[in-house]
Amino acid sequence: MTTAPGQPATIKVLSVTSECAPLVKTGGLADVAGALPAALAPLGVEMRTLLPGYPGVLAAIPKGKVVLEDADLFGGPARVIAAGAAGLDLLVLDAPHLFARDGGPYVDSAGRDWPDNPERFAALSWIGAQIAGGAMAGWRPDILHGHDWQAGLAPWYLRARHPAAGVGSVMTIHNIAFQGKAGVDRLAALRLAPGDMTQDGVEFWGDISALKAGLVAADRITTVSPTYAGELLTPDFGMGMDGLLRARSGVLSGILNGVDLAAWTPTYKTPAGKTRHKARLRREMGLPESDGPLCVVVSRLTHQKGLDLLIDALPRLIDRGGQLALLGSGEKDLEQAFLRAADHPQVAVRLGYDEGLARLLIEGGDAILVPSRFEPCGLTQMYGLRFGTLPLVAYTGGLVDTVIDATPAGLRARAATGMQFHPVTAEALSRALDRLCDLYARPDLWLSMQRNAMRHPVGWDQSAADYLALYRGLSRQD
Ligand code: ADP
Ligand code: GLC
Repeated sequence: MTTAPGQPATIKVLSVTSECAPLVKTGGLADVAGALPAALAPLGVEMRTLLPGYPGVLAAIPKGKVVLEDADLFGGPARVIAAGAAGLDLLVLDAPHLFARDGGPYVDSAGRDWPDNPERFAALSWIGAQIAGGAMAGWRPDILHGHDWQAGLAPWYLRARHPAAGVGSVMTIHNIAFQGKAGVDRLAALRLAPGDMTQDGVEFWGDISALKAGLVAADRITTVSPTYAGELLTPDFGMGMDGLLRARSGVLSGILNGVDLAAWTPTYKTPAGKTRHKARLRREMGLPESDGPLCVVVSRLTHQKGLDLLIDALPRLIDRGGQLALLGSGEKDLEQAFLRAADHPQVAVRLGYDEGLARLLIEGGDAILVPSRFEPCGLTQMYGLRFGTLPLVAYTGGLVDTVIDATPAGLRARAATGMQFHPVTAEALSRALDRLCDLYARPDLWLSMQRNAMRHPVGWDQSAADYLALYRGLSRQD
């Protein structure tokens, strides 16, 4: 922590992440990693982001400065390049043998996981720990903050290899379903010792887990909503890590994600302003005019997101005069099921990843559907709130913490901002879609919910203050 007389103390944080918007994104982790530095800067947090040098990232930083070199980083030479891009203060790990590849951050062009993913992200974590240990001239963080399994080994290496660094560590769980597993034969390749392969070490049901390593070694653990922080302690949601998390519950907390308000601001001030976007959306997706609600989905198509339930519940929405516009990509069987559903004229489906279209859907839709089986936070329902696109969500995780259900009391109190359903089944979703259509048929009620939604605070203010308090509680005093 650096303190000058009369100045508030600056806390230096190294954020270690495998994706960061707008440079590289597959999901909400990128939005959050990309938004945190600007959210925290006004509070006196100087955050630098350590990110792999994928080709797209390197192309965005033509004028960097080499600040660290390593002749043999997990099988090849590497360097860390400091550069600014998109308002971010980046440290980019340029390691061509690990990251100079076509395809996505985690998969090849055919969608298969890179077989050396454990080593690729161990290398990222290693460098994170090295920087925290003081390897970079001129800058050293007070706090190392790792995101998800890809950064899980960073707190572990920090504790094991730089025990005297005096740098605090935070591990944030964005998605516990991705655990960074590797066979025990990779132990030495991951620069771990045989003695690390224990129940209170990196061992997880016979494998190595990079996420577990982080959860064991970090000084503090956070996840991205208070409700999910509680759910993680149960076998249903903990995905095998619940015992460890219960043992460490004293250092676990839930800090809700925020929305980057600069990136996600509607061009309209009142719900009426949506009309032209809705017309454009219908044109773009080839949907006819209709009096029913236009429901939208922007999502990865995976089991987590519960969209198979929507396939089953869709007839109810259509019978009631509703429409669906979906943008997503992921599991092939779900993609195929939605393509088949799009044979119906009231259903339009676009497979792929398209940020412009995602925004049009959120701007132009009446309601956004998020029927997730589990959802650590979820961002699209928050974008929906901000744009007066009412969220219909499963009662789970961060969806509980961000949406106020249209119960009779919620409506009377002018608090309701959307609809929640439980249990997370196709029947309950069908009933919820019925309820949505009933509410949509009452323009007075719908409009008042839209107003509530657009007023609902979804920015970073509170959560940035929570992260600051967490960092302050940990930062080393020089
Ligand atoms: P998750 O991280 O689990 O995928 P979130 O709701 O937290 O879920 O974040 C998803 C992010 O990815 C949002 O910014 C959303 O708009 C975006 N997104 C998801 N699917 C697509 C897509 N097909 N095209 C464009 N953006 C998408
Ligand atoms: C994960 C979660 C999502 C969360 C995002 C950002 O991908 O699935 O719920 O919003 O991370 O924290």
